[in-house]
Amino acid sequence: MADYDVIIIGSGPGGYVCAIRCAQLGLKTACVEGRDTLGGTCLNVGCIPSKALLHASHSLHEAQHNFTKMGLMGKSPSVDWKQMLAYKDDVIGQNTKGIEFLFKKNKVDWIKGWASIPAAGQVKVGDEVHNAKNIVVASGSEPSSLPGITVDEKIVVTSTGALELPKIPKKMVVIGAGVIGLEMGSVYARLGSEVTVVEFLDHITPGMDAEVSKVFQRTLKKQGLNFIMGAAVQGVETLKTKAKVNYKLRKDDSEATIDADVVLVATGRKPFTDGLGLEALGVEIAPRGQIKTDAHWATNVAGIYAIGDAIDGPMLAHKAEDEGMAVAEVLAGKAGHVNYNVIPGVIYTAPEVATVGQTEEQLKEAGRAYKVGKFSFMGNGRAKAVFAGDGFVKLLADKDTDRILGAHIIGPGAGDLIHEVCVAMEFGASAQDLALTCHAHPTFSEAVREAALACGDGAIHA
Ligand code: FAD
Ligand code: NAI
Repeated sequence: MADYDVIIIGSGPGGYVCAIRCAQLGLKTACVEGRDTLGGTCLNVGCIPSKALLHASHSLHEAQHNFTKMGLMGKSPSVDWKQMLAYKDDVIGQNTKGIEFLFKKNKVDWIKGWASIPAAGQVKVGDEVHNAKNIVVASGSEPSSLPGITVDEKIVVTSTGALELPKIPKKMVVIGAGVIGLEMGSVYARLGSEVTVVEFLDHITPGMDAEVSKVFQRTLKKQGLNFIMGAAVQGVETLKTKAKVNYKLRKDDSEATIDADVVLVATGRKPFTDGLGLEALGVEIAPRGQIKTDAHWATNVAGIYAIGDAIDGPMLAHKAEDEGMAVAEVLAGKAGHVNYNVIPGVIYTAPEVATVGQTEEQLKEAGRAYKVGKFSFMGNGRAKAVFAGDGFVKLLADKDTDRILGAHIIGPGAGDLIHEVCVAMEFGASAQDLALTCHAHPTFSEAVREAALACGDGAIHA
């Protein structure tokens, strides 16, 4: 008899959610984690610590720039970096312990150590082999490196090192204007670093609706971030306490060097499957390292499933969580489902940027007839009251049926606002459905309704 119905490898948002749901559905469940604490990249060195530092640095920015406008006088706060890191670590601890509590509550066994799969139905941790009817690989991802760059996590760092620098650098160079580069770049720019972002492409945040991406870059520039666009980084030379980043401009092949106290390499992440023994088992892996799965997250080897960052799709915690819940349902004999057309993406800068569904560029490329409803936060009373009138909501709907196809928001609370559009899209709603829904005043969400109105007879406050 198997020791477990399911063993999940990895306790990130994919793995721990899968484990809890499996247990709730009556399956005898264990989760193996190699780190000392549960929660994976997200809770330990990703989503949660980065949001703590974004919050702390944004609060400083508010104190420096907006307090006196509201009659809140006095010296603005100085930064105690050690205390800020301690606050961040405390937030991590509260969250990772929370998962430990949930495992106990749901009777999920936490097997501590690094797992390998000697054969289908077996998980080896240390010297012990545990038997399981099914195995779910939720082993996550790691930063991808660039040729010519050696990461030492001191001067040349990944996001992990950037979350615990010994001091705030005077000059930081960020390689890559993606999500990590812009979130962490914003943190250090607000804390006083001179931040320069070097990006290979001519625009930031590849894949984002182009109109939003342009406004986003302009906003970040206003906040003090410098951008060197269309620049291919050739290498990073590390000196004793500094580094030199060499890059080549793509437009004319000219080369240049920029100095930094810290270089953050944020050029993407890749699946982490080291040590699992997948190759020996014959599990199919895509050329870029993702474990190949079918529509039910099954690999080509019976009884082995995979989810989250280790498989194809956006590397997002909530995508991993949804796959975790869905594969648990599949294993319990139910119909697990993830709607990949409605997975929001949020960048937690100030203003936040949020997106769901198709971009205008994708609709054009598909030759789809669409209409655009746009509304600026300048017309939103609540946004003006909190100095957050920059930005807009852009809603895309089918020209004939009015069905919502996508939404792109840059502005206050965008990461929360996007979800009413997600729910609307899940229900196949039209822009008019949103426009006819009463929205409380004064809220930022009125801007979403106004964008929906703009898809029809027109916004009121535009
Ligand atoms: P992971 O969270 O990577 O967890 C995998 C776990 O498996 C790890 O703990 C690892 O130790 C363990 N493991 C691996 N192999 C083994 C083994 N053989 N044996 C035992 N254990 C093993 N996403 C968002 O949606 N929102 C955000 O705001 C956000 N911010 C981020 C900020 C940063 C700086 C970074 C780096 C990422 C961020 N992400 C964010 C992405 C998010 O962290 C990932 O998409 C998410 O963690 C993926 O979850 P996962 O469960 O697939 O894997
Ligand atoms: P990314 O894929 O978002 O961005 C990488 C950027 O680096 C791209 O703009 C790319 O063009 C650029 N680049 C690549 N090679 C380069 C080179 N040689 N020189 C200059 N620029 C180069 O990757 P990032 O920011 O590392 O994030 C990794 C993952 O983590 C993402 O998939 C993201 O989904 C996830 N994440 C999500 C967050 C969120 O949801 N808020 C926050 C942080 C990370």
